[in-house]
Amino acid sequence: MAFSPSFLLLIVSVSILFLSSLGDYAADTSTQKSYIIRVRGDLKPCVFADVEHWYSSTLNTLCSSTDSLERSSQATRGDRKLLHVYRTVFHGFSAVLTPAEAELLQSDPVVLAVLPDQPRQLHITRTPLFLGLVSADSKPKSLLAVAESGSSVVIAVIDTGIRPDHRSFADDGRLPPPPSRWNGSCDHGPSFPATACNRKLVGARFFSTGYVAATHGTATNVGPDIFSPIDSEGHGTHTASTAAGVSTPNASLLGYAAGLASGVAPSARVAVYKACWSTGCYDSDILAAVDAAVTDGADIVTLSLGAGSVPTHLDPVAISAFGATERGVFVAASAGNGGPGESTVANAAPWITTVGAGSIDRRFPADVVLGDGTVMTGAAINAGMRFSPRRSFPLVYAGNVSISTPGFRSSAPYCFNGSLDPEAVRGKVVLCERGAVPRAEKGLAVKNAGGAAMILANAPTDGEGVTPDANVLPAVSVGYKAGRAIKEYIGANNDPRVRLSFRGTQIEVKPAPTLAGFSGRGPSLHSPHVIKPDVIAPGVGILAAWPDRVSPTGLKADRRRTEFNIISGTSMSCPHVAGVAALLKAAHPDWSPAAIKSALMTTAYVADNMGQDLVDEGTGNRSTEWAYGSGHVDPEKAVDPGLVYDLTVEDYLDFMCSSNYSSAAIRMITKRQVNCSDKTRKPWDLNYPSILVVLEQSGSGNLEALVHRTVMNVGEEKSEYSVSVKEPEGVRLVVEPQKLVFEGKGQKQEFAVKVSAEAVNLPRGGSLTEFGSVTWSDGKHRVRSPVAVTWQQPY
Ligand SMILES: *[C@@H]1O[C@H](CO)[C@@H](O)[C@H](O)[C@H]1NC(C)=O
Ligand SMILES: *[C@@H]1O[C@H](CO)[C@@H](O)[C@H](O)[C@H]1NC(C)=O
Ligand SMILES: *[C@@H]1O[C@H](CO)[C@@H](O)[C@H](O)[C@H]1NC(C)=O
Ligand SMILES: *[C@@H]1O[C@H](CO)[C@@H](O)[C@H](O)[C@H]1NC(C)=O
Ligand SMILES: *[C@@H]1O[C@H](CO)[C@@H](O)[C@H](O)[C@H]1NC(C)=O
Ligand SMILES: *[C@@H]1O[C@H](CO)[C@@H](O)[C@H](O)[C@H]1NC(C)=O
Ligand SMILES: *[C@@H]1O[C@H](CO)[C@@H](O)[C@H](O)[C@H]1NC(C)=O
Repeated sequence: MAFSPSFLLLIVSVSILFLSSLGDYAADTSTQKSYIIRVRGDLKPCVFADVEHWYSSTLNTLCSSTDSLERSSQATRGDRKLLHVYRTVFHGFSAVLTPAEAELLQSDPVVLAVLPDQPRQLHITRTPLFLGLVSADSKPKSLLAVAESGSSVVIAVIDTGIRPDHRSFADDGRLPPPPSRWNGSCDHGPSFPATACNRKLVGARFFSTGYVAATHGTATNVGPDIFSPIDSEGHGTHTASTAAGVSTPNASLLGYAAGLASGVAPSARVAVYKACWSTGCYDSDILAAVDAAVTDGADIVTLSLGAGSVPTHLDPVAISAFGATERGVFVAASAGNGGPGESTVANAAPWITTVGAGSIDRRFPADVVLGDGTVMTGAAINAGMRFSPRRSFPLVYAGNVSISTPGFRSSAPYCFNGSLDPEAVRGKVVLCERGAVPRAEKGLAVKNAGGAAMILANAPTDGEGVTPDANVLPAVSVGYKAGRAIKEYIGANNDPRVRLSFRGTQIEVKPAPTLAGFSGRGPSLHSPHVIKPDVIAPGVGILAAWPDRVSPTGLKADRRRTEFNIISGTSMSCPHVAGVAALLKAAHPDWSPAAIKSALMTTAYVADNMGQDLVDEGTGNRSTEWAYGSGHVDPEKAVDPGLVYDLTVEDYLDFMCSSNYSSAAIRMITKRQVNCSDKTRKPWDLNYPSILVVLEQSGSGNLEALVHRTVMNVGEEKSEYSVSVKEPEGVRLVVEPQKLVFEGKGQKQEFAVKVSAEAVNLPRGGSLTEFGSVTWSDGKHRVRSPVAVTWQQPY
C-alpha cells in the first residue's frame, strides 16, 4: 500500500516522539483523552476512496507503530476507533489519543490543529410552576397563520434529545411528506422505537462517542444517559416544542388552569440531534451533530448550549456554525446565562445569530413579609403546596444553622444537601444563598432538613433578576438587595419571623419585556467588533413540552410528573428565534442566513409596553445594547423588513482579515487558506445589520471612522428611503447619501456613515461606549441599526 509522504513522515516521527515519552505512555493509559483533529481536506491521498479510510489509517498507523515499540505481546491494541468523522461543516475526525500522540499529529502537515475535547453546558435555568397558562408566550397570532407554510422548513435541534410521543410532536395528518431534499434518519434504541418519527419529527439521531470516550467508558447505558435519541433530561423536548411544537389545547402544568401551547412555527419539521449528556455536551459530539444536520438537509440549526468564553477558532459552535452558514443554513445560538456582568455573552461569532433573554408580560410574584412589616417581592411557583399567607414562621439564615461537622459550615449558606441541622431548621423558613449548587437541590436540602419553606437570595453577581423556580417545597426567589435586607433583619432580631404570600400568576405586567438578569452581556471578548447579543426573545417563565420520565425539577426525589413545564434561560429564548427564522425562511425561501438575521435585527423593538427604554432586571436601571443588541424580535415586522443587509462567505473572510485573525485561525474556521494582504478594510465594514466602531485614542484631537454598508431592497418594487440618525453622546454621525432610491426588488444601494468624535478622558486601558442608531424609512418600513462607538485608551 502506498503511503503519502506525510504519512511516512508520521510513522518516523511517531517513533522518535514515542521513545522520549515511553515512560508515561506505557504506565498510564488514563492520560488518554479525546481530541478533535482538523485536517486539510484538500490533501487527501487518492489511494483512499473516502476520508473515513484515510482518517482510520492515520489513526491505526499511529497505533501500530507505538505498539511495536511497546514490544507488547499482543501485537495490536485492536483497531482504534474514530469517534466521529466530520465531512460537511468541518473536515477531520475525533479520536482518543495520548498527549504524545496528539502532539505528534499536530506536527503532521495535513493536520491543521488538534484540540482537546471539552464539555459545554446547556444554557438553562430551571423553574417549574403551578399555574394556568393562557398562551405559551408572546407569539403574535398572525404569525401562526403565516406558519401554515412552514412545513417546507426543517429545524435541527442540537440538544438532549426528545420525547417523541408528546402531543407537541404529533402528526395531525395534515402535514405533507417532508421536503424531498430531506435525507435525515431516525435512530432507534432504548426507549426510542424506529417508529417514533413521523411527518412532524422527521429525524432523530444521537451522538455519544465523544461523551463516552471523555468519561473513559464509565458512561453506561443506564440512569440518565440512554443511548438513543430519547430525552431523559427535559431540555431538548422543551426547546424543540418551543421552536416548532404543534398547537396543543388544554396544555397545563400539574393539572392547573388550562391553555393553548404552541411552538413558534407549528408547521415546521423537527429533527433532533442529541449531543448533550449528563456531564455536558462534548465538542466532538456537537461538531458531529451539526455536521449531520447540515448533511441531512436542515434549514435552521438551534443550539441552546455553549461555553462561556472561547476564542472563535477553538469554539465548536462557531466553527460548525460557519460551515452551516456557508451552506445556507441559519444558526441561532443562546447568549448564555452568565449575566448581568459585562462581557459574559457566549456564541458571539458574527455568522451566528446570538440570542439573549427577556421577560414576557406574565409574572409569578410572591411577597416576603418580615416580622417588622417590611414587604419584599420576589418570584415563585408554588407547585400545588398548601401555604397560608397569614401564618407566621420563625426565620433562620442557612449559614447559621449548619450541622456541626466542620466541612459543612462553609457550604450551609448555599444549602447543600445534608449541610443543615434539622434541629435548628424544622418548621422554619430558611434563607439560602444562590450559587454553588442547582437551585432545585437547595429546596430539597431544606425540605430534607424539615424546613417549612425557603427564601433564595441572589448573590451580588446575580443582581436583581429573579426567575420563578422549580421547587419541592414553597419557596420565593428574591434579588440581591432584598436578600441582604432579610439577612440584616435576621441578624438584628431575637425572634425573626416571616410570612410568605404566593400571588399566583399576573398577566399584562408592566413593564415588559425587561432584560433577564442572567442573560449574557456584551461586549464579546472574542468578537469585539460586532454588537452582541444580536437580539433578545422570551426566556423567562416559558411553558413548553416536558418528558414524562423526568420531574419538573429534574430531581429524582421529586415524584411529580407533568406534560408541560415552565423554565427560564437563554436556552428558552434561542428556539423562539429559530422558530421565527423558520417562518421567515418559509416566506422567503431565497433568503440567505444573513438576510434572515438582518430582518430579525432591523425590525426589533427597543421600547417596553409602557413606551420606555427596556429595563435591565440585573441592575434595575435602563438596559443597553450590550444586553439586548438590536432589540426584542418582532416576528410580524421581520416578515416584511423592507431592506436587508446581506453577507457572503467572502465578507466574513474580509472581516476575519481586518480583525487580525491569524491565517491559522481563519483556516480552522473556514477550511480556507486566505491571503490577508488587503489591509484597507476595517472590521466595521462587515455588512452587519448593527454597527460597532472602535476608536483608538492616540493623542488628543478628533477621532474619525468611515463605515460602509450595502442594503438590498426586499420590499416594494419602487421605493424611496430616507435616513434618520440618533447620534451617540459626544459623536457626530453623517450618513451619505441621505436618500436611497430603489427601482426594483433585489436592487442594492450603498451608503456610508461618517463617525467623528472628540477624544475623551480615560484611564490607561480604559474604554467607554455610547450608543445611537441609523434608521432608514420609506414611510412603511423602519430599518433600524444600533450604532455603538467605543473609545479605547491604550495601555
Ligand atoms: C442520503 O443518505 C443516504 C444514506 O445516508 C446516502 O446513501 C445518500 O447518498 C444520501 N442522499 C443524498 C441526496 O444526500
Ligand atoms: C384537560 O386536561 C385536564 C388535566 O390534564 C384533563 O383532566 C381534562 O380532561 C382535559 N380536558 C380536555 C378537554 O382534554
Ligand atoms: C440528601 O441528604 C439526605 C440526608 O441528609 C440523604 O438521605 C439523601 O440521600 C441526600 N440526597 C441526595 C440527592 O444527595
Ligand atoms: C449568624 O451568627 C453570627 C454569630 O452568632 C451573628 O453575628 C450573625 O448576626 C448571624 N447572622 C444572621 C443573618 O443571623
Ligand atoms: C443604576 O443607576 C443609578 C442611578 O443612575 C446609579 O447610581 C447606579 O450605579 C446604577 N447601577 C448600575 C448597576 O449600573
Ligand atoms: C490589526 O493590526 C494592524 C497592524 O498591527 C493594526 O494597525 C490594526 O489596528 C489592527 N486591527 C484591529 C482591528 O485590531
Ligand atoms: C498575498 O497577496 C499579495 C498581493 O496580491 C502578494 O503580493 C503576496 O505574495 C501574497 N502572499 C501570499 C503568502 O500568498
